Amino acid sequence: MANDVDALISQLTLEEKAALVTGDGFWHTRAIERLGIPSITLSDGPHGVRRQPPEQENGIGGSFPATCFPPAVGLGSTWDAELIERVGEALGEESNALDVQVLLGPGINIKRSPLCGRDFEYFSEDPLIAGELGAALIRGIQSKGVGTSLKHYAANSQETDRFRVSADMDERTAREIYLAGFERAVKDASPATVMAAYNKLNGVYATEDRWLLAEVLRSEWGFDGVVVSDWGAVNDRDAAVAAGLDLEMPESEAGPAAIVTAVRGGSLDEASLDAAVRNVLRLVFDHAHLKADAGTKLAVPDDMVEDHHALAREAASRAAVLLKNDGGILPLAQNASLAVIGEFARNPRYQGAGSSQMEPTRLDDALTEIRRLAEADVPFAPGFTLDGSGDAGELVSEAVAVASSAEVAVVFLGLPSVAESEGYDRQNIDLPANQVALLAAVAQANPNVVVVLSNGSAVRVSNWQGGARAVLEGWLLGQAGGGAIADILFGIANPSGRLTETIPEKLEDNSAFLDFPGRDGHLEYGDGVFVGYRWYDARELPVSYPFGHGLSYTSFEYSGLSMSVDGADASLSVHVSVTVTNTGSVAGREVVQLYVSAPSVQVRRPLNELRGFHAVPLEPGESREVSFTLGYRDFAYFHPVLKRWYVENGPVEILVGASSRDIREQGSVELRVNEPVVPLDRQSSLAEWMKHPGGQQVLAGVMQQAAAQNPAAAGMFQNEELIAMMGSMPLRRIGRFPGVGLTDEAVDALIAQANSAG
Ligand code: BGC
Repeated sequence: MANDVDALISQLTLEEKAALVTGDGFWHTRAIERLGIPSITLSDGPHGVRRQPPEQENGIGGSFPATCFPPAVGLGSTWDAELIERVGEALGEESNALDVQVLLGPGINIKRSPLCGRDFEYFSEDPLIAGELGAALIRGIQSKGVGTSLKHYAANSQETDRFRVSADMDERTAREIYLAGFERAVKDASPATVMAAYNKLNGVYATEDRWLLAEVLRSEWGFDGVVVSDWGAVNDRDAAVAAGLDLEMPESEAGPAAIVTAVRGGSLDEASLDAAVRNVLRLVFDHAHLKADAGTKLAVPDDMVEDHHALAREAASRAAVLLKNDGGILPLAQNASLAVIGEFARNPRYQGAGSSQMEPTRLDDALTEIRRLAEADVPFAPGFTLDGSGDAGELVSEAVAVASSAEVAVVFLGLPSVAESEGYDRQNIDLPANQVALLAAVAQANPNVVVVLSNGSAVRVSNWQGGARAVLEGWLLGQAGGGAIADILFGIANPSGRLTETIPEKLEDNSAFLDFPGRDGHLEYGDGVFVGYRWYDARELPVSYPFGHGLSYTSFEYSGLSMSVDGADASLSVHVSVTVTNTGSVAGREVVQLYVSAPSVQVRRPLNELRGFHAVPLEPGESREVSFTLGYRDFAYFHPVLKRWYVENGPVEILVGASSRDIREQGSVELRVNEPVVPLDRQSSLAEWMKHPGGQQVLAGVMQQAAAQNPAAAGMFQNEELIAMMGSMPLRRIGRFPGVGLTDEAVDALIAQANSAG
């Protein structure tokens, strides 16, 4: 194949090469018929196939029906890579049925602020979850031959000003948080394409960032697929080719013209263009065999519709998170006296708005599904309208009357579609005021209130949850979410979803509160690596529900933590195992979470960081041993000066539990590693000299000499206060003081001596 591609490249004119690296219309690569180069089709993604009918290929709007699985906010809450891989396989099958060769997903950006309008399309505030679950979806889709597009690379964690804003952060923050998930997904699952984001990173457009695309993605991580622009993300096409962006989407007239001019004018090396053409051709030829024959009817076959709807229901039932369940009010008996309240019960909010919004094959609503399972009549009142129209007083009175007629009132609340979308951010994290007022009125009439939420990212619960005995966070659950909610309410499914984002008590507590959404084209990442639980824990802030939290209808016990350390440095491995037992009376799934606490003497680190997780199904009374293997990177931070992953010697804590704030077992292991030393240079301070192993030796020699010549100088070096005060002063400057007489050349010699000794 490589030879064939190179032979083809040698036959292409410059104009044809430039045309090949831009799209054909919104969704296709360009064919060059004279050389037998076909075109392939790319489509959104990520939680369902959004294949637009050929006559409607305008980027937005209608698509052929396909299964709408839970968006990433829901899938992520399952913490279940095996399930997500199965969803990926189903997406791959539907892509083939709809003649899509590259599905545009998964999106794995970090949820830094709950205000981000597109958080529903992302998995977590934690890069391990984003990377592992993103990798699982890629593996599933690609197992059916279909390519994926890992997006949006990188640091696209807000929508405001997304086409221009610069995400400004230090390299440590980028590496540990905003790039780490991409690194894992690229290395573990080799996506066919990576999508370069709209925004800039530290002042450089992601589509023109050589460091991001060529150095980090390709050289360091070994990515060998196509880098595709987000739709309309190219700013300067020839700069983008030079930086390593292969394919511009969608079709552009300006792009190819700019490339041809730049190559002819000598400002763009044709070899860079050839590299992009080679990548695009490999993608095309790797996937062209999947193309449907001309005239094939594009539709998901009926039996697939059926099977995938069932899978969507299974995924949705594992995604909902039971936040609260006072007195075990849930599950409800099927013959209980129930009332259902809230427009979302009959008019579900099940996916987010924007480019991922697709046409489902079916749509379950919770009201119908509850009525299907309930053994008694279930009265309903909408309680509010989604657009705030109608007579609020009347709607509430009707709801209160319905609630009073039953033993338990199940109230469906949430965010209307317009509240969160791709393209803009939220202004606050509150539920609409009319819904909060409705809940208060219902709770007065009936003490047994169960709230079911529909929202794409965290909402504040602290100002209303006192009115509810149970709260089920239903996120956005896809087309079968209504059935899944009914299954959970009646205990046909046991909730096992866990939070992948902290629910803060109030927006002001969030780490991005003061920065978001930036100004003058810049967004400061002033919270650094302290995002999500890393922030709330470091600041000891109370939260409504911590990262990792989620209740079950059964209970789990942890015991027998055991740990052992093997190897050293790059081959360091720490084996951890723990036993988990289902101590309740129904089957359930526990999500066992492993956190590492690795304090540093050199940098400020989060208290605990998630380093492993397993979703474990357990029958009543059943126990299982769950094992983890941690490597060097799991204990490392990115050293800001050495620009490498770095582990410090010493004890680290291993914590295993049911959430970031519910640790059940913990122990400590001692790490023995070689700690690389920051070399001394002319600007190194006295304190740095005294910490540097070679520097200490060399300085000791200098002090001895000075003391021999001048006893007063010896006293100076023994004066701790003086040393502390002068610690920040570069040795070279001290050398210039009257009477010290250390020339630059002498300092250079000492530096050389110290660095070679240390
Ligand atoms: C979105 C991408 C999407 C693309 C194509 C862009 O606006 O950011 O996620 O894949 O459009 O629809």
